[in-house]
Amino acid sequence: MQILGVDIGGSGIKGAIVDTATGDLVSERHRIETPQPATPDAVADVLARLVIHFNWSGPVGCGFPAAIQHGVVRTAANIDQSFIGTNIDKLFSEATKCTCYNLNDADAAGMAEIRFGAGAGQSGVVLLVTIGTGLGTALFTDGSLLPNTELGHLYLENGKKAEHYASDAVRKLEDLGWKSWGNRFNTYLSMMEKLFWPDLIIVGGGASKKFDKFKEQLTIEALVKPAAFLNQAGIVGAALHAESKLG
Ligand code: BGC
Repeated sequence: MQILGVDIGGSGIKGAIVDTATGDLVSERHRIETPQPATPDAVADVLARLVIHFNWSGPVGCGFPAAIQHGVVRTAANIDQSFIGTNIDKLFSEATKCTCYNLNDADAAGMAEIRFGAGAGQSGVVLLVTIGTGLGTALFTDGSLLPNTELGHLYLENGKKAEHYASDAVRKLEDLGWKSWGNRFNTYLSMMEKLFWPDLIIVGGGASKKFDKFKEQLTIEALVKPAAFLNQAGIVGAALHAESKLG
């Protein structure tokens, strides 16, 4: 089946048509700058433009950087506060005239990695951490997702919120080298290990492309792998989510 997958991020809104049987993109990826301020109506407008770009009339899956409960946005760490309480399944469907199914962006990336990527065939507990503007997490047991885990918001023993200490945005802001940032990320993963004892941790998001530059810093016992899809996972996983909702 083909579904339009969309990854809604703080700087760009990216979409592509996905073959859900293989996880392949069957179109070019198209990116539109995230409008500023990224209000619900402004984002809905960009989605409508993406749908027109692809001349699309089928279902749409969207990964969105917040906890999404039954289509309603519950948190707004790195997005416009006016999203809180908005039913984006409804808003985006009305704006695009396509049925839109939304889920958390890290959950979307995790779904792609578990089905086709670094977590394929892995039983037990798998944690995916996406490193970007925030720290997103997706937690699976035997391939089943526990949605909206939001573990980037935990406080570390040093008193700092994890995503304010070890995100890619912080690395850039504080001009940290990969080694010193890698040590910070290792502090975060050590806490994840002590709390969840994952069999596998998958590192996704923009920074996963540089995995070789910080992998030596990671001292935890669990196996840690970079995401196989790199930055494409959110688009593919959003399409898989929409397919699962179609029944
Ligand atoms: C948000 C999460 C999101 C993550 C990555 C965090 O700030 O709370 O919902 O998954 O950023 O975008």
